Amino acid sequence: MKTLEALTAAELGQLRQQVERELALQRTDKLALDLSRGKPSPEQLDLSTELNEPLASLIARDGTDARNYGALRGIPEARALGGELMDVAPERVFAAGNSSLFLMYQVAATAMQRGLWGDGRRWSRAEGPPPRMLTPVPGYDRHFTICESLGIEMINVAMFDSGPDMEQARRLAAEDASIKGIWCVPKYANPTGCIYADNTAAAMAELPQAAAADDFVIFWDNAYAVHDFERPAAPLANLYDLAVAAGTAEHVALFSSTSKITYASGGLGFCGGSDALLSALEETLSLMCIGPDKVAQLRHARFLSGRIEEHMTRHAAVLKPKFAIVDRVLEEELGGLGIARWTKPKGGYFVSLTTPPGTAADIVRRAAQEGLKLTPAGATFPYGRDPNDDNIRIAPSFAPQDELESAMKVLTGCVKLIAIDRNRTEAE
Ligand SMILES: Cc1ncc(COP(=O)(O)O)c(C=O)c1O
Repeated sequence: MKTLEALTAAELGQLRQQVERELALQRTDKLALDLSRGKPSPEQLDLSTELNEPLASLIARDGTDARNYGALRGIPEARALGGELMDVAPERVFAAGNSSLFLMYQVAATAMQRGLWGDGRRWSRAEGPPPRMLTPVPGYDRHFTICESLGIEMINVAMFDSGPDMEQARRLAAEDASIKGIWCVPKYANPTGCIYADNTAAAMAELPQAAAADDFVIFWDNAYAVHDFERPAAPLANLYDLAVAAGTAEHVALFSSTSKITYASGGLGFCGGSDALLSALEETLSLMCIGPDKVAQLRHARFLSGRIEEHMTRHAAVLKPKFAIVDRVLEEELGGLGIARWTKPKGGYFVSLTTPPGTAADIVRRAAQEGLKLTPAGATFPYGRDPNDDNIRIAPSFAPQDELESAMKVLTGCVKLIAIDRNRTEAE
């Protein structure tokens, strides 16, 4: 197959007509397709129906009555579950209610306002530049909106297959004391699907020491800790252990949740870290909550205890074929044309598509006209600004397989159309 660039003007015109015809065929299906948000499908949610069985007892193993107020850090069973997901001891875990994102916000807000260490260190100061965080890009839009809402500026760091460019991160953090932290999705990153390499994690653990700020925090959002499509599961270095060895454990905030294990709404969120971090978080949360939903905690602990891998293998049976469809259609429709590359994750929820520079927004707009909703172009970058306008996030989990196939054909058709038009304009 010839690359798009090698085609003559006549060949480009013919290809354009063919793509238009193919898109028109899809259009007759009255499309209302959506590849925009990484939600579990109903089929995946059904895997956790057992959560709703009546509980034999509502008393936790330490005697806590799950129905009553209290136990802000969570019941022991739930803390153990969080420990399993985040690879730390249960004592290092705060088990809360639904949403780890809520906990990320609270940790960031606490770092801003009161500090995480019980001393004078806090990010928000009356004088001097505003606090900043490093944002490996492309990344997760909701991390960026937390920063924006708290007045934290963001500085982009490049992402490799091995995780963030740690040399760049280290240089930036070392020369600017207003840089207070970094966002990480270390396993099956949103949206590239990469897993941080061991040396990336080791360099990350040392980053707070290299940073000019003495209140630097690593936000280690391990949302996809157990979301492997294949067995054995892919390993991830233990950041907390590395940080203990590097003397930086107080500068690490771990996060995970069961949102994409059981119910996206109605699961458990976890935060892990040092005694100082857990105490600071407890103080903040105690202002707004007397205790988490411990009935949900008991249900989750009893349902998942000792069988996370078995349960996630069932999710993989639903998700892996969908990711295979995405990869196949991309390969069939765009392979060899020299106009796109994409990631091939072995787990998680996303595929990251890179199109020619300056085309992503046009592709997303054109797809919307064809009835396909995509994550807005730029959403994977702070402030919605993709400097190259070339990144599109694909979220294949929610759509049934036949719709996913149609959606991918529409997407790849739009990529071709916009790239052809770009090539023709440049040739003129
Ligand atoms: C990287 C990442 N972190 C956190 C979340 C949301 O987590 P939770 O449902 O626990 O708030 C998502 C959801 O897409 C995500 O992709």
